[in-house]
Amino acid sequence: MPEVLAEKVESMEELARGVFRMRIKSGYIAEEARPGQFVNIKCGDGMEVILRRPISICSVDRDKGTFDVVFQVRGTGTALLAQKRAGDMVDFIGPLGKAFHMPENPGRIAVVGGGIGIFPLYFLLKELKGVSGDIFTGDAFLGFRDSASAIMLDDFRQLSGNVFISTDDGSMGFKGTIVQLFGEKAAANGYDLVYACGPAPMMKKVIELADRNGIKCQVSLEQRMGCGIGACLVCACKTKKEDGWEYKHVCKDGPVFWSGEIILED
Ligand SMILES: Cc1cc2nc3c(=O)[nH]c(=O)nc-3n(C[C@H](O)[C@H](O)[C@H](O)COP(=O)(O)OP(=O)(O)OC[C@H]3O[C@@H](n4cnc5c(N)ncnc54)[C@H](O)[C@@H]3O)c2cc1C
Ligand code: FES
Repeated sequence: MPEVLAEKVESMEELARGVFRMRIKSGYIAEEARPGQFVNIKCGDGMEVILRRPISICSVDRDKGTFDVVFQVRGTGTALLAQKRAGDMVDFIGPLGKAFHMPENPGRIAVVGGGIGIFPLYFLLKELKGVSGDIFTGDAFLGFRDSASAIMLDDFRQLSGNVFISTDDGSMGFKGTIVQLFGEKAAANGYDLVYACGPAPMMKKVIELADRNGIKCQVSLEQRMGCGIGACLVCACKTKKEDGWEYKHVCKDGPVFWSGEIILED
């Protein structure tokens, strides 16, 4: 059940220029949150930030009662959030949204994320590894703008069999998009299930590749949000139903969907 909470920031760390990891003390989120879920954060006071901003839960520490979010400064809300320091209070609602499917026997897993899409996938890999232990060998496909923005690589390496990296400018790893790189490896690597997170056009391409290679697929959508709790329709997305389609809320019915459920436009 989501709760409205005001909790203390335990630490703030700048991982790359304009990208921050905020650790928040909250036994409730640490215990309740599942990979793919997010918190809706009140970033500051004033009309411009009256709407909370959705940020994925990137990891939890159940022993210490803390959770991490990693966010990139994009506009007013995230810029205000970046000014928080250890000891400050932060007001948020969570955990929100539907989590990723957690298979009992994961088989061959791939996660595919670009930019801010990698953060919920880290939590997912951590939980899958926690359940399956050393037999778990998921592969991570991580896409960045350039080498300076390539973060959390060691974190992913600790959890993944292989970490494949792409950058738009070729300054690290494969030159191109992470979906192109996934496309090159998908057939040969025999994945059973792929999880992806990113903007709708990217998710559409991952779904096409998964379909072509007979891989089950879940995607988490980065949709603009208003209320975050299913009350305003800002986050509507088209989903399939027997006799056509209907709108569902990404905040409440998602952000995670099975590939066969949704209709994504370019
Ligand atoms: C379920 C979910 C989980 C998210 N998790 C993370 C995360 O873990 N880390 C992170 O850095 N960001 C995450 N985002 C994106 C984050 O919510 C936006 O970057 C943030 O709301 C921007 O607020 P702002 O006030 O700083 O910028 P605004 O002034 O509101 O917007 C600035 C720019 O950011 C873009 N933007 C706004 N909202 C979104 C959005 N929802 N998705 C993508 N781009 C957006 C706008 O198009 C604009 O170009 C997530 C979004 C969703 C829906
Ligand atoms: S953000 Fe308001 S309904 Fe989803």
